[in-house]
Amino acid sequence: MGHGIAELAAIAGNEVWINDVSKEILEQALSRVRWSLSKLKESGGVKEDVEKIMSRITAEVNQDEALRGSDFVIEAVKEDLELKRGIFKKAEVLAPNAVLATNTSSLPIEEIASPLNSKERAIGMHFFNPPVIMPLVEVVRSKDTSDQTVNRTVEMARSMGKETIVVRDVPGFFVNRVLLRIMEAGCFLVESGRATVEEVDSSAMEELGFPMGVFLLADYTGLDIGYSVWKAVTSRGFEAFPCKSTEKLVLAGNLGVKSGSGYYKYPSPGKFSRP
Ligand code: 3HC
Repeated sequence: MGHGIAELAAIAGNEVWINDVSKEILEQALSRVRWSLSKLKESGGVKEDVEKIMSRITAEVNQDEALRGSDFVIEAVKEDLELKRGIFKKAEVLAPNAVLATNTSSLPIEEIASPLNSKERAIGMHFFNPPVIMPLVEVVRSKDTSDQTVNRTVEMARSMGKETIVVRDVPGFFVNRVLLRIMEAGCFLVESGRATVEEVDSSAMEELGFPMGVFLLADYTGLDIGYSVWKAVTSRGFEAFPCKSTEKLVLAGNLGVKSGSGYYKYPSPGKFSRP
């Protein structure tokens, strides 16, 4: 999701540094942003010239350089507590005035911020996939997050054209608590033999008006992500029915759109097309 968040920040007029572990990944991120901006330009979603917006994004493979002196840091690495803590610890020193925001879907902000001296600067800024299209950002404040950090984060999200809700640091925050219940109901229907994956998905779309059925959405988001959210929140006291079929697919390396196969098959891995 990092490239989508960087794109939003650049559209909003900020100078953006993106960082990842290799130049190749950064190149791929830039080309995804360029593709997305061209689509938005075509549909009138952005007015400014695509290359002008692109010129505000710098790809920097050196993490220290990317962080140094930033006003606002948004971390979007995988759901690994130690990895996230390491980035925040570095950012705390290299960007002493920055808001330290995490796009975590499932890890408590308080746990990510626990090694920091300035815990009041840490906050959750939970985007939804694809960030440039989905209208909501969930802002998650821990017991230590200051009002100033909340205000700066809400302001940043609004400058990106997003609606915000400010929620407490409880397992699954707000949106994933609801999404897990919906997923749980779909899994129960399939795993108890009452409906097929396709039937659940078409009812979600045709009866409930969802843009995607629940299993297609799980493939689109990444089954590994959904599974890690489920594990993180259930291990912290949120009770949810285990989705055995998701676990089986994840253990077999079938992660959804990104791997070319999940509940459905995708002819070009990494590229979403409706089955
Ligand atoms: N940038 C720019 N344009 C984009 C885009 C992007 N990243 N992604 C899609 N589009 C454009 C497409 O190119 C297409 O444009 P076109 O009509 O000119 O060809 C248009 O949007 C519609 O896209 P598609 O034809 O590919 O497919 P859809 O009509 O189904 O739209 C969707 C795709 C916007 C993803 C829609 O299906 C949707 O809203 N799905 C639900 C997504 C959702 O619920 N996300 C939340 C997941 S949960 C999460 O992220 C939280 C985490 O914690 C787990």
